[in-house]
Amino acid sequence: MQVENAVALVTGANGGIGQYYIDSLRSLGAARIYAGARQLSSLDNLVAIDPDRIIPVALDITDQTTVEAVAAQCSDVNLLINNAGIGLLKGFISAPDLSAARAEMEVNYFGTLAMCRAFAPVLKANGGGAIVNMLSILGRVNFPMNASYSASKGAGYILTQGVRAELAAQNTLVVGVMPATVDTKGSQDFPPPKVAPETVAQAALQAVIDGIEDVYPGEQAQAIAAQLLSDPKGVEKAMAAMLPQSA
Ligand SMILES: NC(=O)c1ccc[n+]([C@@H]2O[C@H](COP(=O)([O-])OP(=O)(O)OC[C@H]3O[C@@H](n4cnc5c(N)ncnc54)[C@H](OP(=O)(O)O)[C@@H]3O)[C@@H](O)[C@H]2O)c1
Repeated sequence: MQVENAVALVTGANGGIGQYYIDSLRSLGAARIYAGARQLSSLDNLVAIDPDRIIPVALDITDQTTVEAVAAQCSDVNLLINNAGIGLLKGFISAPDLSAARAEMEVNYFGTLAMCRAFAPVLKANGGGAIVNMLSILGRVNFPMNASYSASKGAGYILTQGVRAELAAQNTLVVGVMPATVDTKGSQDFPPPKVAPETVAQAALQAVIDGIEDVYPGEQAQAIAAQLLSDPKGVEKAMAAMLPQSA
């Protein structure tokens, strides 16, 4: 589908990558951009750049009532960008309890699922449109330093396949975006290489235009995706080797 003249909604629009989604949507000529954030005031600077096109929307994707209200309010959307997500850098075994694993699943899986379900009829009414789910290469292989996050993104990967299958009949393109490390505040302590957030947003929107379902932005993600085909065990072992061992 064309992004020019599209009506988009971006969740987590105040975040590191979210802001670049808004920038790229503007550059590509989107007609209207709903910018979702939990705190509306966090969008003030973003909205000030282009108040005619950027419409702030209070949206916590884990709040079902709000999700449904936003879908009713934004009934002209034909491009849904599920960008909101959290990563709490916890291991499965070393975490003190299950709270991080549950929180990541609540936002990254259940929140994204709730958004897909609420907007499916909206997209259908607007000709099919597209959904972009911000996943991660860590949804394709576990990274033990961010283990429960990996699991939630893995759930998001399977979610993306299933939603794609269910919405094919209504002509909705469902794109999964799987970068490796993106250069945002959240990854400041991570070692290079890092892909620029604008590269991620641009690659995702180009995939929408070209009808491509699986996107691996940046050289690191592309290399891991290729190795997952040729040597999946090697990728698993390489990720495991990054975990500091304590005797
Ligand atoms: N950075 C990376 O290296 C990287 C790599 C691969 C994939 N990703 C994925 O890319 C997406 C964006 O990441 P980022 O680096 O831009 O992270 P970020 O700067 O931390 O932004 C995350 C955004 O999600 C929002 N959010 C969190 N919980 C929410 C909820 N319950 N409802 C609505 N919004 C919520 C945050 O809003 P608040 O300000 O209200 O907390 C924030 O706007 C995430 O899905 C992330 O998992 C990131």
